[in-house]
Amino acid sequence: MNKKDMNNKENHTKEMHNKEIHAKKMASKGAKKALMILGHPDLESSLANKTIVHELSNISNLEIRHLAKLYPDFNIDVESEQAALLASDIIILQYPFYWYNVTPILKQWIDKVLSYGFAYGGGGDKLKGKQLYLSFTTGGPAEAYKKGGYNNFTFEELSRPLEQTANLCQMHYKGVISSSSMISFSPEDEKKQEIISKAKAQASKIKAIVG
Ligand SMILES: Cc1cc2nc3c(=O)[nH]c(=O)nc-3n(C[C@H](O)[C@H](O)[C@H](O)COP(=O)(O)O)c2cc1C
Repeated sequence: MNKKDMNNKENHTKEMHNKEIHAKKMASKGAKKALMILGHPDLESSLANKTIVHELSNISNLEIRHLAKLYPDFNIDVESEQAALLASDIIILQYPFYWYNVTPILKQWIDKVLSYGFAYGGGGDKLKGKQLYLSFTTGGPAEAYKKGGYNNFTFEELSRPLEQTANLCQMHYKGVISSSSMISFSPEDEKKQEIISKAKAQASKIKAIVG
């Protein structure tokens, strides 16, 4: 490592330290700050997630980070994302369920941002005590997500890897908030209205947590 790289590293460590102190001060003042990590890959074409985000757009203590918009090339700014996490008490992952999982951009965020020495491992306790909620929408109906249903497993069972991620990061895992049958294959307005009203109900649950 040359001198310039060493200086950059030192500055980065100092900056992270200052941000941490700032986050702790905010917390001691009792201000609960919430962060939504939005993992929809194409919000323009979305109905469900777009409605949820729209409903939550004017909440002062909630920051919504739209990953696909911030990082269309998947080149996540790890420092900025970690700073946003440090400043938050409640973290909500918001995404459409893709193949029983998070979307690729959200997986990229997890892989890059929850790094060794930050989220886990030696000195990696920066997320300790923060709350983690999963908020997702599914195309499949709720009754498919159970033993004997055509998706065999419950949402909670399918979300175990994220639950364990929270455990490893010493976060409080707060579980799943979800809406099902959120896909419409026809231009039928009635079905769309149903999706919108379920998305609004999901947003209300999030408002109750954040507010
Ligand atoms: C690539 C892909 C994978 C999907 N996988 C699932 C799935 O595993 N289970 C499910 O119930 N729906 C699945 N869906 C449907 C989406 O979850 C559904 O379209 C989405 O939640 C609707 O939200 P939106 O209007 O915000 O896009 C999938 C959709 C796509 C495009």
